[in-house]
Amino acid sequence: MTRALILAGTGDFIARVNVLPGTQVVSLTRETIESERFDLIRSLDPQSLPDIIFVGAALPIETALTIGRKIDETYPLIDMVLIDEVPVDIVVEAMRSGFRDVLPADMVDDRLREVLRRAELHRLKAEPQVAVTGAKPIAQIQPPEESRTITVISPKGGVGKTSIATNMAIGLAEDHPSEVVLVDLDLQFGDVASTLDLTPAHTIEEALSPAAAADNLIVKTMLTVHSAGFHVLCGAESPAANDEVTGAQIIRLIHQLSTQFRFVIIDTAGGLPEPTLAALEVTDDVVLVSTMDVACVRGVRKAVEMLAQIGLLPASRVLTLNLASNQSGMKVKDVEAATGLPVDIVIARSNDVQLAANHGVPLMLNKKKGGAFVKSIRSLINHLENTGAANKRTHKRLDVA
Ligand SMILES: Nc1ncnc2c1ncn2[C@@H]1O[C@H](COP(=O)(O)OP(=O)(O)OP(=O)(O)O)[C@@H](O)[C@H]1O
Ligand SMILES: [Mg+2]
Repeated sequence: MTRALILAGTGDFIARVNVLPGTQVVSLTRETIESERFDLIRSLDPQSLPDIIFVGAALPIETALTIGRKIDETYPLIDMVLIDEVPVDIVVEAMRSGFRDVLPADMVDDRLREVLRRAELHRLKAEPQVAVTGAKPIAQIQPPEESRTITVISPKGGVGKTSIATNMAIGLAEDHPSEVVLVDLDLQFGDVASTLDLTPAHTIEEALSPAAAADNLIVKTMLTVHSAGFHVLCGAESPAANDEVTGAQIIRLIHQLSTQFRFVIIDTAGGLPEPTLAALEVTDDVVLVSTMDVACVRGVRKAVEMLAQIGLLPASRVLTLNLASNQSGMKVKDVEAATGLPVDIVIARSNDVQLAANHGVPLMLNKKKGGAFVKSIRSLINHLENTGAANKRTHKRLDVA
């Protein structure tokens, strides 16, 4: 349940927040807020604080900023969003006054949901009690220093995320046997199991159960062992199996795995769905996969901008160009110019990748045939091993300008 307090919001905005499932709304009118006897801070019950406060455009900007500063001083963990369209200097002023974001009242529903979800996650991380009974509170779980969580994402589907994640797991397991776990976080259509020709006895659905959340050993029994010396948390059979899964459950699961494995590699669905955003909360290195086409490259740029805005862009990012070919009409430098990021790894298109996946034996296991592809995956692993250590989790929320 996300608790939202809306100050001086329009009826339309209040209604939009109200209809979102799992949201509890309290709203105060401009008249109430501006009345002499009203003290906002004293009106907040410390036992049941809102997760997020929206400050509406109906208030004069100075009043809104003063409210922001007061709330930030007393309750710095409450997310605050200014609902207004203001010039950049006011946006900067709002951020300094403690607002996390400045957004227009007509932002799309997905954005609104995202803002609310983040606010709830903040609370879950800060509060001692969480929804999953018997489980250790998230805030008390510290991932071991030496563990690395690497998440493979892309704005698009079919660009090679699963191919990269599975082959990377195999390569890492060569150097670190039994210290790697690969998680299929494409909760609806994950195909890690079939790509690796595994028949799992258990899936992520069970690893997300309250019993598993309370016990690391139970989570371990949900893993499938691959003959190449790594573990896999396979996706559920049914696309609907994980419909109710929350970001907090996913964060907890990743924490649990990172206490048991040196490398947690996460394969994701295309785009930035909820489970991926939750994973990014606890990710050390993000592997951004793009192909050499304008739509995907633009998507990468937008994804990076959005993640930076919401504080979920890990400091260690590896831009990987997959399915690269000199016939695409784009050059590496075009991709760099369009994304604003250096291209770290280039993986050429090779028919053997698909052939290998169709046989359930990824190319990393077939060094003879692997050729250039295996070399590129090795470079990716080396890159992560060389650069990632300097960017351990504490630095992950490095915003890009
Ligand atoms: N470098 C490559 N050369 C040739 N084929 C490739 C390459 N990388 C991936 N493929 C093939 O492209 C297809 C899509 O790859 P993959 O399933 O890894 O993408 P994905 O991003 O995980 O897709 P989805 O979003 O559907 O999960 C597969 O058939 C795969 O074998
Ligand atoms: Mg995939």
